[in-house]
Amino acid sequence: MITRVRGTEDFLDLTLHNFVLEQAKKHFASYNFSQIETPILEHTALFKRSLGATTDVVSKEMYTLTTESGDELCLRPEATAPTMRAFLEAKIDQTPWKVFSYGPMFRHERPQKGRWRQFSQINIEAIGTAAISQDAQTIAMLDRFFGETLQLEDYILKLNFLGTRDDRENYNKALHTFLENISDQLCKTCLVRKESNILRVLDCKNETCIKLYQNAPKITDNLSSESQAQWAQLQELLAQLSVSFVLDPKLVRGLDYYNKTVFEFASPLLGAQDAFCGGGRYDTLATEIGAKEDYPSIGSAIGMGRLLLLCEHISDKLMLPEKPALHMIVPMSEAQQPLALLLAYELLGKGLCTDVVLEGGSIKSMMRRANKQGAKWVLVLGEQELQDGTVALKNMVTGEQEVVKQTDVLKHLR
Ligand code: HAM
Repeated sequence: MITRVRGTEDFLDLTLHNFVLEQAKKHFASYNFSQIETPILEHTALFKRSLGATTDVVSKEMYTLTTESGDELCLRPEATAPTMRAFLEAKIDQTPWKVFSYGPMFRHERPQKGRWRQFSQINIEAIGTAAISQDAQTIAMLDRFFGETLQLEDYILKLNFLGTRDDRENYNKALHTFLENISDQLCKTCLVRKESNILRVLDCKNETCIKLYQNAPKITDNLSSESQAQWAQLQELLAQLSVSFVLDPKLVRGLDYYNKTVFEFASPLLGAQDAFCGGGRYDTLATEIGAKEDYPSIGSAIGMGRLLLLCEHISDKLMLPEKPALHMIVPMSEAQQPLALLLAYELLGKGLCTDVVLEGGSIKSMMRRANKQGAKWVLVLGEQELQDGTVALKNMVTGEQEVVKQTDVLKHLR
């Protein structure tokens, strides 16, 4: 048998998924974000130029293909660069452009709990706004979605500030000096990253490196006075908005376009892949992908699969929509099927959820089938009923049964 591709999932019950997505749409719309959609296929260059050639995503996780005409395309690994591309391509002149989108992303990572090769993100971006207050508002909006709308409890918000490009260069030098002095104790990956993408050493999961980096210089201690003031302002605003956060000087994020604010929402309930939402500010992405001017921006993406794992823990607290009562029509033989379809047509026309058992053998097995489907009402049509213009109505919850005129059926069901 052909099985599903490694790292992908089949979703056979979308009740919780649809509920969470609907809540998200309502929540972000109420903050004046509108929904957009961009293609799954993009030019590979879009990500090579924006995410950074040395990032894991670009260097080893992209699903790429070359078309017959020689175009280098890929399945998008994330949605920020595509959103910025769409903004530039449509020449949107109203900023901030506040948008969200939902859809599948693709990364060729090693699958494990909470990590798939195809996964969906709710992606939220405010493009063309340099105000640090927008960072606070975006983070507060997300925190309120998780904490109030979805009532998640066991999560933390990690916050860090990467400063401007100049701040980063200064910091990189300080970090490089620190690493040089301990280079004989570093793992192989860190030795490579020290020279190619130095900030990412702070993301290392090797125990020895983690211990060593406890004494590493902090990026927030190496900020210009302007950045320092913005960093302080962000923390103050979040405190005023009652958003709890922990400072994480090692939070650098895995994509290269970030500057200033970076953050992640994480939960211990998720195990090793604990971040269910991550984001930050990206002030130079527009020019990195070819725009003439910069559009400072801030955004974030929620990993839907991980968020659903968290929601499963508290699904009894959520107001999940109840399934509408199912009306199952059971024609006892083929002769009653036309009437069954007509009756179904009428009930459906009145907005009632209706189905017809068309293959089932004996009446007993058809009733069993209706019961398994969770029918609230079963409407049996036999030879007698066909002749009399009646239908046998059974309430599957109370077990009550009565024979009523077909023309009166709706009255009895209400
Ligand atoms: P990211 O941190 O790469 O950021 O991904 C955001 C979230 O997507 C993660 O926190 C995680 O929940 C989920 N995620 C990532 N990879 C996987 C995977 N392989 N399997 C399951 N879930 C995964 C971005 O993608 C940025 N574009 C976010 C952003 C938007 N920054 C600014 N605007």
